[in-house]
Amino acid sequence: MREDLTKINNTRYSLEKIFPDAQDFLPLLGTDYVEYYVGNAKQAAHFYKTALGFQSLAYAGLETGITDRTSYVVVQDKIRIVFTTPMPGDDNAIFDHIKKHGDGVKVIALWVDDAKKAWEETTTRGAESYFEPRTEKDADGEVVKSGIKIYGDTVHIFVERKNYNGTFMPGFEKWESHYNPASVGLKYIDHMVANVGWNEMNVWEKFYNDTMGFANLITFDDKDISTQFTALMSKVMTNGNGRIKFPINEPAEGKKKSQIEEYLDFYDGPGVQHVAVATDDIVSTVSEMKKRGVEFLYVPGAYYDTVGERVGEIAEDMKVLKEHGILVDRDDEGYLLQIFTKPLTDRPTLFFEIIQRKGAQSFGKGNFKALFESIEAEQERRGTL
Ligand code: FE2
Repeated sequence: MREDLTKINNTRYSLEKIFPDAQDFLPLLGTDYVEYYVGNAKQAAHFYKTALGFQSLAYAGLETGITDRTSYVVVQDKIRIVFTTPMPGDDNAIFDHIKKHGDGVKVIALWVDDAKKAWEETTTRGAESYFEPRTEKDADGEVVKSGIKIYGDTVHIFVERKNYNGTFMPGFEKWESHYNPASVGLKYIDHMVANVGWNEMNVWEKFYNDTMGFANLITFDDKDISTQFTALMSKVMTNGNGRIKFPINEPAEGKKKSQIEEYLDFYDGPGVQHVAVATDDIVSTVSEMKKRGVEFLYVPGAYYDTVGERVGEIAEDMKVLKEHGILVDRDDEGYLLQIFTKPLTDRPTLFFEIIQRKGAQSFGKGNFKALFESIEAEQERRGTL
């Protein structure tokens, strides 16, 4: 608890420096849930339980009176993921999304105190409505929801749940399962990254700034994020209290095809590229995930020849980090450890990042080159470089 508070206070301090005139007209309490549209929600939920350490939380479908879709909700500490599949009554919204994008993130839901105000503040500032504020009730109380559209077919849903005591949301019932694999130690969502089209990064920076009051925390240009072959640019947007961070990537010109362009081809447009989740013990989290079948990007052993000089003293054994391919980076405030999975979907689109912050509030700039060379090796194997 104490560590959490320190983390939030540190973030606040640096945010006040970069963003002195923050008008927090959209107070966000955190990420409420992430919803994927998938071809088979039951099997996706099983994979996230088995391989990624999530637990069963809630279910909506025929048995709960929902006929146009089936949803399974899984949870691990503060992270909630909803998997939704269309049923024959679907008006094709879910089906068309899957046909176009494959399995992917549809909703980044944000926890707010007032969903009606969140919708009004954002739509009057130029955000396009996804749906107007509405109240859903059951025996456990009520949830107010509203939604706005963001990049591609992705949306934000604002969730107000202060008058709700149920498992997840009206329409869902508790998902009781006899199969309950242990957690792998994932704690909360650290950041979620968007890939947008050519020259669109600034458009979405402006969107988050104008309609949601976010500030630009850091910018990485193509000189920061390039290898011999490929490049991308990125701007990290954050809300006023620092709890929500959305890096936004766009492709940049290089000798070969940017990984962002590959994503845009396979996702057929902009969307969520990765979900970064925090752990307090990356070595044990990653060892456990590997045991359960999760594949991680391979980092050339040569990375570890120079990493010691770059990051200095760290508490972890570098040999162990090398064995797992865990990357390390340092900034003014401390250091961080991170590793990236291979795509979790059939298309080379969505992946997870596992991150452990030891003071550092940055994003691993020192690892970009090694990481992108590793992604290029995968692109080469797919014939998409
Ligand atoms: Fe990341």
